[in-house]
Amino acid sequence: MENIQLNLENIFNFVSEDEFNSLKNKSLEFNNNLNNPNGKYKGYTGWADLPKKTTEDFLDKIQSVTNKLQQKVDILVVVGIGGSYLGVKAVVSALSGNFDQPKIIFAGINLSEEYLLELTEYLNDKTFGICVISKSGTTTEPAISFRVLKDLLVEKVGEQEAVNRIVAVTDKEKGALVKMSEKLGFETFVIPDDIGGRFSVLTPVGLVPIAFAGFDIKKLMSGAISMMENSSDNIPFEENLAVQYAVARNILLKKGFLIEILANYNPKLHFFAEWWKQLYGESEGKEGKGIFPASVDFTSDLHSMGQYIQDGPRFLFETIFNVKKHFDKIIINEDEENLDGLNYLKGKSLEHVNQKAMEGTLEAHLSGGVPNIIIDIPEINEFTVGQLIYFFEKACGISAMFIDVHPFVQPGVEAYKSNMFRLLGKK
Ligand code: PA5
Repeated sequence: MENIQLNLENIFNFVSEDEFNSLKNKSLEFNNNLNNPNGKYKGYTGWADLPKKTTEDFLDKIQSVTNKLQQKVDILVVVGIGGSYLGVKAVVSALSGNFDQPKIIFAGINLSEEYLLELTEYLNDKTFGICVISKSGTTTEPAISFRVLKDLLVEKVGEQEAVNRIVAVTDKEKGALVKMSEKLGFETFVIPDDIGGRFSVLTPVGLVPIAFAGFDIKKLMSGAISMMENSSDNIPFEENLAVQYAVARNILLKKGFLIEILANYNPKLHFFAEWWKQLYGESEGKEGKGIFPASVDFTSDLHSMGQYIQDGPRFLFETIFNVKKHFDKIIINEDEENLDGLNYLKGKSLEHVNQKAMEGTLEAHLSGGVPNIIIDIPEINEFTVGQLIYFFEKACGISAMFIDVHPFVQPGVEAYKSNMFRLLGKK
């Protein structure tokens, strides 16, 4: 299986080797600290050894529950928000065909009445099940959607059968959802105590919907295991991708590069960037610190945000997903009249054009003062997606330690909630 690779050479126009190397020892120390279950963030780092702790039997159990559900329903509505949504969406979007989407629909991701109304209308003549995901079991958005969708399901198939079509993923003892599951008897999977929402995609939070969607969760986990091994204590800095990425972004931050833009040239990775933005934004954006994570879809956004990236204030750096697998099946033919002026591309594949667009953009942005980090992905599959997930999680923990913020809490998100609850009259 081919591995993802990291190419940092383009940051060295902006930082010296010495500056970069000055963070090496700290990064390894932080990495080892995260690998130690009794380290600084004891009680929050269950995700760090999760890939190896997850047994084949457990993955088989998830597979068998989702196989049974697949036989009963055509559509699975995944109800959850934040870390209980974005990881699933990222993985399923990366692995699915652009136009041949698996039958997974998301709810509980907003409070738009129009969205839920249209969803219930859409589901009215469909056979559906629900996977409700909430670690706290009390988050407003998924709780409201679940109440509405559960009622619809009961109305359609009756209480007994509705129970057979609902899977809950939640805390082992806290929150409304666990109580409801116990009382009503849904199949339930537990989110471990020591794994927070945005680090939970390799728990049943992600695994149940991903397995339902038909993807190989064992291969996903084996990708994560390989990246876990790549960042274990005994791996030297030069081979450890997660520490290198954490050092690169933090040395750039020290040089005033406050915004990291994750760019893709393949639309299947759009939602991977959405997951990444949550992971880094919620983990690092604290106490007036943290790199602001942004994302763009190229070449589409070269026709919009490209202007700002090239010519705006110089506090941006880019991290680029470079998918190496090329199809080279769409070849540009010669046209006798050449009315569109494209004959200069005759015999070239669209992939070739995309590649040159990437190379040209990298060159332009570099000369415009935008450093970049390149992540080479041999091919988008379960293994490389598993690698990327673990790679970003580990680097995120290390990065947050560089700026000395607690990566695994999110006190800032309480502010909107308490205002909303006050305005809604919640006691
Ligand atoms: O990363 C996090 O902890 C958050 O984004 C949560 O995932 C999000 O708020 C949803 O929480 P819950 O799963 O408790 O409904």
